[in-house]
Amino acid sequence: MRKPLIAGNWKLHKTLSESRALATDLASCLRNFAAADVVVAPVYTALATVAEALAGTPVKLAAQNCYPEETGAFTGEVSPLLLKDAGCAYVIIGHSERRQLLEESDHFINRKLIKALETGLKPILCIGETLQERESDQMLEVLTAQIKGGLANLSATHMAEVVIAYEPVWAIGTGKTATDEQAQEAHSFIRGLLQGLFTPEVAAATRMLDGGSVKPNNIYGLMAMDDIDGALVGGASLKAEDFLRIARFES
Ligand code: PGA
Repeated sequence: MRKPLIAGNWKLHKTLSESRALATDLASCLRNFAAADVVVAPVYTALATVAEALAGTPVKLAAQNCYPEETGAFTGEVSPLLLKDAGCAYVIIGHSERRQLLEESDHFINRKLIKALETGLKPILCIGETLQERESDQMLEVLTAQIKGGLANLSATHMAEVVIAYEPVWAIGTGKTATDEQAQEAHSFIRGLLQGLFTPEVAAATRMLDGGSVKPNNIYGLMAMDDIDGALVGGASLKAEDFLRIARFES
């Protein structure tokens, strides 16, 4: 049985006081919530503040990125070690915005993923095709390359800590959503890849999130799909009311 996981990616939004207010709201409403694991990913500067607001609740903290070295001359970067120190349990890796805007490669993403695992953080590895890739029938090839590249050199033991988020780039922040069946088809394909790369047991145990314009009105249908175990939520995670409805799978 895979426990559902709902993760909120706050992206580059919210000041310290706004982050504290949202985390405090979520903390008070989810104090005894056990139906799904819930995770929020604020900006780096708000991590410690949000950790404080979430203390003693089941809601876990994630960072939106990390650097694949522990310490050293890496100006402007933050390592998994420091994220753990700030209270993170998870880290989002390879988000499409970083792949596109910062040209992150699968190899760099793989290095981050391994460092995060070695440090004891659970990586949420994001993959997904662009509209152009989907329309030119390259989707399966792109997903295969992202999975193989991102998960290279990983042991089955490490894989048990990894969460995969499938987010078609054309659905992120656009209000356009994949149908439940389109999402399921991609998730099932990805689970098949994991089976080939690892074992059927590892593939069956890996949690896979859907992402790209997930809202209260589409979470229920997505969660009914066999291979979808939760959601990575951007825009709708910025308002407590919407995010709570998603965490409870309420339309
Ligand atoms: P969105 O973002 O829900 O605003 O589409 C999802 C994401 O980028 O993780």
